[in-house]
Amino acid sequence: MRTHFHSLPLLLFTLSLLLGQSKPDPDPIQDYCIADNTNTFFINGVPCINPKQASSSHFVTSALSKSGNTSSNKFGFSVTSTNTVNLPGLNTLGLVLVRVDIEGNGIVPPHSHPRASEVTTCLKGQLLVGFIDTMNRVFTQNLKPGESFVFPKGLIHFLFNRDSKQPALALSGLNSQNPGVQLASVATFASKPPIPDPILKKAFQISDKELDMMRRNLGG
Ligand SMILES: *[C@@H]1O[C@H](CO)[C@@H](O)[C@H](O)[C@H]1NC(C)=O
Repeated sequence: MRTHFHSLPLLLFTLSLLLGQSKPDPDPIQDYCIADNTNTFFINGVPCINPKQASSSHFVTSALSKSGNTSSNKFGFSVTSTNTVNLPGLNTLGLVLVRVDIEGNGIVPPHSHPRASEVTTCLKGQLLVGFIDTMNRVFTQNLKPGESFVFPKGLIHFLFNRDSKQPALALSGLNSQNPGVQLASVATFASKPPIPDPILKKAFQISDKELDMMRRNLGG
């Protein structure tokens, strides 16, 4: 009896940990919560409009129909995401869909999403994708159209268009309405204000000159 008494809380605790592992954003407590983008106060998410004013147009978007401008950065990629502005009906549903365009030999540089796992499907082209786990092991795969790869939540990952001429196209689903993104290189070398020189020089084992070059190249 005594052991049972003690093991029940432990069992519940273990179960709650196991279940907690797969939780996306908090569950909605109504059918939908169409984003009211006119509000200026902040809650965890976006406030909803009166459900009586809901219409089909709140649940549809053509945001992902056009390719993005892959020349607007040095890496040769463009990411277009659904969000609570272009698709107000996704508010509180715990997901977004993202269109990724990558020019020939372009990359989506190593980056992470602090609030979401991501599954990427290659629609066009030849993609080399991969992520790095917390033991610094790297897992990579060449994707052909129709093939998918998953990036676990928060881990650094990248995409590379292996074809030097043809653009590549991928569609990614993420299990947060606001996954967040940090490009490792840009966050480190082009932060505002800059991270103090001694920290970056020591962390990356580089000279003043090399630090200046990295900052300049990354727009810092
Ligand atoms: C794409 O971005 C580049 C660099 O910012 C710009 O020069 C070019 O006009 C843009 N192209 C389109 C179609 O908007």
